[in-house]
Amino acid sequence: MANITLQDLRFEPYISKEKINERVKAMAAEMKNDLGDEIPLFLGILNGSFVFASDLIRECDFDMTISFVKVASYLGTKSSGSVSQLIGLNESILGKTVVVVEDIVDTGKTIEMIDALLKNAGAKSIKYASLLFKPDAYTRSIPIDYKAFEIPNEFVVGYGLDYNGLGRNIDSIYKIVEE
Ligand code: IMP
Ligand code: MG
Repeated sequence: MANITLQDLRFEPYISKEKINERVKAMAAEMKNDLGDEIPLFLGILNGSFVFASDLIRECDFDMTISFVKVASYLGTKSSGSVSQLIGLNESILGKTVVVVEDIVDTGKTIEMIDALLKNAGAKSIKYASLLFKPDAYTRSIPIDYKAFEIPNEFVVGYGLDYNGLGRNIDSIYKIVEE
């Protein structure tokens, strides 16, 4: 497979679609084992997770409901500082087992916001599933229950992940070529 260019950056093939499929299948099997008789709500975080979520749920051989949300963070009043909100959530979280589906966990800032919001909404239990995890960039303490790949602190695109909005439609993962 050849390198690709997105705007000013070059990327090289990194994780093949076959390898992704293998790990997604294994993750679904692990989830089935852990979740037992629960009917979890899978909550995909847009935009990046839509490709991974769509493959993952089709490998999951158990009942679930699925929804997608965006996380918005904005500055509230001077006294309240930064406020975050889940946009697009129109079902109740109260008492539910929620499986948050992310494309990548980098610093962990995003899932920390999501965690607070879901706890506040009364989730019974919250699990985190991420296609990619960058352990060297992670600065938070929330455990990532399911991760398909741990990768070094390098920028990647494809399979839902973007560079300036580009590259989400590539069916495998590419990493940046440092030049
Ligand atoms: P966080 O630092 O864990 O909050 O990650 C925030 C977001 O940064 C992720 O959901 C991605 O949208 C984006 N991100 C982090 N690393 C990468 C990468 O290597 N490629 C593309 N997007 C990334
Ligand atoms: Mg994202």
